[in-house]
Amino acid sequence: MRFTANARARVGVLISGRGSNLGALIKATHRKDYPAQIVLVLSNSAKAGGLQLAAEAGIAALVVDHKAYESRGRFEDAMTAELERAGVDIVCNAGFMRLLSPRFTDRWHNRQLNIHPSLLPAYKGLHTHERALGDGVSITGCTVHIVREAMDEGPIIAQAAVPTQPQDTAETLAARVLAAEHLLYPHALALFASGAARVVGERVEITENAGEASETALFAPPLTQNPNT
Ligand code: GRF
Repeated sequence: MRFTANARARVGVLISGRGSNLGALIKATHRKDYPAQIVLVLSNSAKAGGLQLAAEAGIAALVVDHKAYESRGRFEDAMTAELERAGVDIVCNAGFMRLLSPRFTDRWHNRQLNIHPSLLPAYKGLHTHERALGDGVSITGCTVHIVREAMDEGPIIAQAAVPTQPQDTAETLAARVLAAEHLLYPHALALFASGAARVVGERVEITENAGEASETALFAPPLTQNPNT
């Protein structure tokens, strides 16, 4: 992909809920130098909070309710039809909670991104923060990767590391990882849309002359120092 601020990638975002990552992507696309624009938001649930964010930003948003379709394939075809109608180049999953079959992942092969709240390949699936804390890891984080048929697998575009803290609960850790997600997703989408990140085989390569954009690892800001210590 070689999209630029003057010829932006047309992005469709898939959501199921709150939509805070969608919000971070919307904010990024307001930057003059950003190589992508969001042209469509699709939600499988009419209750998704992200629909409101899309409406506020003036972005077309549709509900494609999986329950209204007799099979996963039909549901996926309906989503693909809407994405094609909107002329979408890149699909971004942002808290989209339906499993996707090859019918969809093949159609959008190397054109679909996902964000996951762990340092993949560790902690695929749900309850990542509980599991990381249960294992006593010192560092966790989040990953943006290219979507493959298998859930939470595929070439990694960028990751952000977030240290755990001794007092962490799943909720406090989730909040810090989410803040990192909001920096990482816009960054990874820019890398991908601009062509700085390319899929080569089953890995992502970053072009050497990508300059600042070549950073694929982000680190959470240092812990706030207690002024009394
Ligand atoms: C995020 O933690 C994302 O990594 C995961 O689902 C959550 C979605 O949150 N896939 P939001 O809807 O973007 O606020």
